[in-house]
Amino acid sequence: MASIQILNQIKKKNLETMNMESGSTKVRILIHTGTCGYAAGARKILEAAKNISAASDLPVDISLSGCIGLCASEPNVTIMRKGEASVIYQKMTPEKMAEVFENHVKAGAPVMSHALACKDMSGFDLKKIDELDFFKSQVLFTMRNKGVIDPESIDEYIARDGYFAALKAVTEMESEQIIKEILASGLRGRGGGGFPTGRKWDIAFNNKSDVKYIICNADEGDPGAFMDRSILESDPHSVLEGMIIAAKAFGATHGYIYCRTEYPLAIKMLEKALAKAREYNFLGRNIFGTGMGLDIEICQGAGAFVCGEETALMLSIEGKRGMPRPRPPYPAQKGLFGKPTVINNVETLSTVPSIIREGAEAYSSMGTLTSKGTKVFAMSGSINTVGLVEIPMGISLRSLIFDICGGIPNKRKFKAVQLGGPSGGCIPEAFLDTPVDYEAIIQAGAIMGSGGVIVMDETSCMVDMARFFIDFIKDESCGKCTPCREGSSRLLEILDRITTGEGKDEDIAELEELSEFIKSTSLCGLGQTAPNPVLSTLRHFRHEYEAHIKDKKCPAKRCASLLEFKVDTEKCTKCGLCFKACPAKAILWQKKQAASIDRDKCTKCLSCYKACRFEAIL
Ligand SMILES: Cc1cc2nc3c(=O)[nH]c(=O)nc-3n(C[C@H](O)[C@H](O)[C@H](O)COP(=O)(O)O)c2cc1C
Repeated sequence: MASIQILNQIKKKNLETMNMESGSTKVRILIHTGTCGYAAGARKILEAAKNISAASDLPVDISLSGCIGLCASEPNVTIMRKGEASVIYQKMTPEKMAEVFENHVKAGAPVMSHALACKDMSGFDLKKIDELDFFKSQVLFTMRNKGVIDPESIDEYIARDGYFAALKAVTEMESEQIIKEILASGLRGRGGGGFPTGRKWDIAFNNKSDVKYIICNADEGDPGAFMDRSILESDPHSVLEGMIIAAKAFGATHGYIYCRTEYPLAIKMLEKALAKAREYNFLGRNIFGTGMGLDIEICQGAGAFVCGEETALMLSIEGKRGMPRPRPPYPAQKGLFGKPTVINNVETLSTVPSIIREGAEAYSSMGTLTSKGTKVFAMSGSINTVGLVEIPMGISLRSLIFDICGGIPNKRKFKAVQLGGPSGGCIPEAFLDTPVDYEAIIQAGAIMGSGGVIVMDETSCMVDMARFFIDFIKDESCGKCTPCREGSSRLLEILDRITTGEGKDEDIAELEELSEFIKSTSLCGLGQTAPNPVLSTLRHFRHEYEAHIKDKKCPAKRCASLLEFKVDTEKCTKCGLCFKACPAKAILWQKKQAASIDRDKCTKCLSCYKACRFEAIL
């Protein structure tokens, strides 16, 4: 039976083996293997590390850990030795791993050319990780365990104070106390809507029923979003612990994690975490010996975007086609199988244990008046440092993009940042000082959404961007309500017309009218927010629509139908970059001669436009 004494014993023992306290003589090699790590080649690094250490007689401990958040520097490896600063290596290859093993693991001399930073303490003439621009302003509250623990080890989670909050909530706190603490923290749902988590739990608490459900929404379908996946891959127990605390708060007796099947690593981690949590009696019939019963199962979704919408999600769990229904009744009133149900996002739930452990004040002291705490963002697009960032609310978008993520690559200019998923909006340079805050972002013309941030440079066409997202929404509309189903198809038709040079003068007015109609008449959040990409680009980049329609020109040179595909020989510097970039071998070029384009071979793929730095292709 788990008790505070047992948790403390596990914590002490594992802190030693994790090399966080003195005691262990082994060198620990931590291979960072989130999906991003594997995609960058971490599997080969793992094999190399195993083979090299098997051939040596050194006492080495090879463990896996999630992404450190700096996806751009994957594959990462951390070397930990007793009494020394741990060193994080970046962009590893099997050859670099051999070098690191020979010099650092065997001889204690880090290979500085491959090192990114050191961890925990200063040393080796390397910057500490939290001195790097990318980490300097970050506050790891929700993601405190990312890249630190082995996600498959419940003991390492406990060593970092895991399950202490659940123990406290289940054995020492009344439901009302837990709800009060979450309300006081100011935590708002991170799935997009930003509804206060404590209020949702309170409604479910006050709704008396023999059976209640807690659901973790791990459907994460927004293009550009990978926060939830990363949390599940690197720290699955934090989500389970959050679910146990939520269950105690409003009396849930059964839990589901609805995770899209495209997240196999996250599902594997969850399955292992669930098995261990049951084994330790953190789940089951008699949690912490209190008589509280809760078990959690995983439900794999097929990856339909609309199944992230809470009412559709519940139907999907019930084995029916995932389609939204009108609310009220809200799930907390009448949810899964007709019973009171709380649905919370992965990030929301994994933040809960730290709030209970550290206290509401620790969380609410960060952030703005209405947006408390920290928020995790998945940074992608035209940005120097792609990765996961957790910052206190209130930091400006400019700081997020330029100070933390290093700005725009290839000396290009910033054009816009897209926030809030497919139905979010674009924010132009003039609004870059907008703070990360639910209300401020809405005022700037976007929504916070779940935290996917896509940065666009001057080569992005905003009409084409709106077309891309509307195309996504049209495909993902479940078809139940006419405004969303038909409206998104009509929006796409108009945008297709404009981007192919067939735009008409009345198209802008029609886009606006139709967008307002879809927003105000659609059944669920999908349709209600679907026109946002159109409306926000019209608000901030109307001149680009006009250039496409009136001048039949794409100012960003992105819409292939509006380009001539010929070379301006005066601007051409004869560098041959377009020649090298063209996959169709349609560029005719020889050293010291201007390029030209063979139109018969040209597939209009735009590779030459992207490669040319002198705007010589028209
Ligand atoms: C079309 C659509 C898709 C959604 N997808 C997700 C999702 O993938 N993950 C998520 O947590 N919330 C998603 N939501 C929001 C959920 O319906 C719900 O508000 C959320 O899971 C509640 O959790 P929270 O209060 O912790 O944010 C989506 C909403 C809509 C309208």
